[in-house]
Amino acid sequence: MPSVFIKTYGCQMNERDSEAVAAQLLAKGYSLAPDENVADVVLLNTCSVRDLAEQKALWKMSALAGLARKAGRQPVLGFMGCMAQSRGQQLVETLPDVDLVLGTQKFHRAAEYLDELLAGRRKKIVDTDAEAGSQATIREHLLSGGAGKKSVTAFVSIMQGCNQHCTFCIVPATRGEERSRTIPDVVTECRELVGRGLREVTLLGQIVTSYGKRDYPLKEGKSAFVQLIEAVHEIEGLERIRFTSPHPKGYGDDLIEAFGRLPKLVEAAHLPLQSGADRLLKLMHRGYTRERYLTIIEKLRRVKPEMGVSTDIIVGFPGETEADFEETLSLCRQVEFDQAYVFKYSPRKDTPAAAMDGQVSAEVIEERHLRLLTLVNELAGRKYDALIGSTVEILVEGPSRRNPARYEGRTRSNKIVVFPGGERHRGQLLELRIERTGSFTLYGDPAVIGMDDVDDDKTPLEPPTPELNLVSAEKHQ
Ligand code: SAH
Ligand code: F3S
Repeated sequence: MPSVFIKTYGCQMNERDSEAVAAQLLAKGYSLAPDENVADVVLLNTCSVRDLAEQKALWKMSALAGLARKAGRQPVLGFMGCMAQSRGQQLVETLPDVDLVLGTQKFHRAAEYLDELLAGRRKKIVDTDAEAGSQATIREHLLSGGAGKKSVTAFVSIMQGCNQHCTFCIVPATRGEERSRTIPDVVTECRELVGRGLREVTLLGQIVTSYGKRDYPLKEGKSAFVQLIEAVHEIEGLERIRFTSPHPKGYGDDLIEAFGRLPKLVEAAHLPLQSGADRLLKLMHRGYTRERYLTIIEKLRRVKPEMGVSTDIIVGFPGETEADFEETLSLCRQVEFDQAYVFKYSPRKDTPAAAMDGQVSAEVIEERHLRLLTLVNELAGRKYDALIGSTVEILVEGPSRRNPARYEGRTRSNKIVVFPGGERHRGQLLELRIERTGSFTLYGDPAVIGMDDVDDDKTPLEPPTPELNLVSAEKHQ
């Protein structure tokens, strides 16, 4: 049977989609290729959020095609995901080696289309049509924690699309209208995962605070999303629930209170900010003010003082003045985020912001990017340092990605902790004392769990699964 290699760009949604496609192909008898240059099928799962992410995938595809030609090989080459959706037919016209273009509502058709291409029944397939019900097709899991070991955590896709139409964002165009899976459907998937040994789920969507709005009316003042969290919370054996990404506009008191009520809902809130200036928030069509954003954070911290708060910020949105930018800096000083992803504004095709006056020069964007990054990293560093000497609970996920001789897990507030653990700790909840910090990493003191328990069963190094590059390539840059 053919072998496949999948490379993923972009967000957790993309990682999840790639995993579902890989699981689908494995079930049909495909194997995972150890590297892209020997695979019979190479699929690039693409991101369109910024131009750089698109360019990287385009360069990669040209390089793959060139190398294959040189080696006298003819692998099936395909794009899928957001750029496949937004560029469609144009991709096969400009890159003649590309055989398959699979849109964001078509992941579940990958096996069927690849069969046709591999059998030579069709020469090229481009499918970017909308498909009713496609939001419920991202459900198969690979659950590979590396080297044949089981995963401890999983992403669960609960909805697709976004109707918010922020003026800078291409996602509503690439992912389509909001469409949610049903509560029983999501709960069934989570229950199956727990049955397979998973202990933590992250509920995923582009705007999860809009989950099920049209399908489930408020119940005792609780939104559909909170109803979903409650239903998932009932699952016995599940230890932790996370979700991403919510939108400040829909971040109601019912959701804030849920953190106080539901012990499995961990103290981690990723709340995209984008800008600290009301003037820009309005131009961005974000639907909230600086004050409203700050109120949400304040309420969250009142319910859970240890809440880990992270965010996304864009610098250089059209019309952003020095004064606007300083409002973003001051908000960051006020909130003290545990982590902030800072993005340089990138004009996207057919978005209102791309046509706005006052596009900011690359030099100014660069300078603001550096200033903001320096500030948020310094503030975050202080937050991490403040944890030295404290005891935290981690869920052990497996060998550390930074140092495979060590093990790692996450705190409830979503901070990575590296410690000298062994394979037997995988999937365990452990209490560790933090002894030092590194860049967005905590290092745990093994004394707390007892050294004898730790080192004797150290397994050989276990790198992350080499076959499937599911790791986000863009988001953290
Ligand atoms: N709600 C989605 C947003 C997807 S895009 C989610 O987080 O799941 C992720 C982040 O990319 C956004 O929060 C925003 O900060 C950034 N982004 C989106 N469009 C952008 C653009 N045109 N230029 C720069 N950054 C952008
Ligand atoms: Fe994009 Fe705004 Fe939706 S950032 S994904 S349009 S909430």
